[in-house]
Amino acid sequence: MTPLARMVSTGRFLPDHVVTNEDLESRIDTTDEWIRSRTGIRERRLAPDDMGVAEMGAGAGRAALEEAGLEPSDVDLIIVTTATPDRWLPATSCEIQALLGADNAMAFDLMAACTGFLYALSMAEGFVTAGRGDTVLVISTEKMSSIVDWTDRSTCVLFGDGAGATVVQRSEEGDERGIRSAFLRADGSLSDLLQRPAGGAARPLTAQRLAAGEHLVHMAGRDVFKNAVRAMAHAANTALDAAGVKAKDVDLIVPHQANVRIIEATARYAGISMDRVFINLDRYGNMSSASVPVALDEAREQGLIGDGSLVLSAAFGGGLTWGAMTWQF
Ligand code: UT7
Repeated sequence: MTPLARMVSTGRFLPDHVVTNEDLESRIDTTDEWIRSRTGIRERRLAPDDMGVAEMGAGAGRAALEEAGLEPSDVDLIIVTTATPDRWLPATSCEIQALLGADNAMAFDLMAACTGFLYALSMAEGFVTAGRGDTVLVISTEKMSSIVDWTDRSTCVLFGDGAGATVVQRSEEGDERGIRSAFLRADGSLSDLLQRPAGGAARPLTAQRLAAGEHLVHMAGRDVFKNAVRAMAHAANTALDAAGVKAKDVDLIVPHQANVRIIEATARYAGISMDRVFINLDRYGNMSSASVPVALDEAREQGLIGDGSLVLSAAFGGGLTWGAMTWQF
């Protein structure tokens, strides 16, 4: 039998500073009522100016290593997912490798926006099951507050900062716990729906583009919403089929936390009732790729995921990228 890869631990790091919808009411033309009814978000965490994604990611990574009873030197590979790297060069994963003192690790960043954690999990699975190494630390860390336009009410109310992590190892022979299926896709023809237009090689930042806010997040919210529901529902059903399980067998869905209405629609299509869906976006907003691992860590802490639980995760984001995975903890 092909060996399985499993998540042996999880961890998270969230900045202390809470910004509520009421706080935003005094800064922009919005209301708590609008934000709650359209998204489900009540508050979000924002990192201070001098805290970058490497520091947050290292915090989450340390917590995951500690739970697994591992030393940083045990890690063979660090994969970091982020849409908000501290610098364009070097990769944030290398900065985290140094902060952790993971002296035996190779490290790289993976950019798949909000679907990044699932993409990284799939890469980690391939690495350990191919025998390239024993231990992968996957870290998703995002400082969305550094790239949103704080004058654009249609985007700035949605996002928050934070980091989540997991340790992935090969399952012991005969151990049936592990990743069961993955369905991951991308469609770059829809890349303009969610983007930062300037600041890269093709459209370098000029004073004019900076003044126009082209380095910040631009999103066609309604179009993204429609695509998200369709793609996540299809991905969730495909991942369930590939694992040979039914929706009723799933103990908990841990979806990407962008909008509670997207989550409700996806659960409805997949035939799963909302009491088996984990939601924490009310407290954190959309933390892009960090949303799923932070939610996993909290769900485990609350006893909603235990040894042997079957979990389904689905995510969607810029790229466009999307996908779903199932695994047994
Ligand atoms: O992480 C993955 C990627 N992101 C997503 O998955 C997000 C997907 N999109 C969404 O979640 C939703 O489309 C939003 C939450 C972004 C927007 O909700 P919506 O129900 O699609 O609203 P809308 O964009 O159609 O805007 C409706 C109205 C507009 O006013 P008019 O034109 O009807 O007068 C907006 O100007 O709501 C207005 N509006 C606001 N009003 C108060 C937009 N943002 C705000 C706001 N406060 N913050």
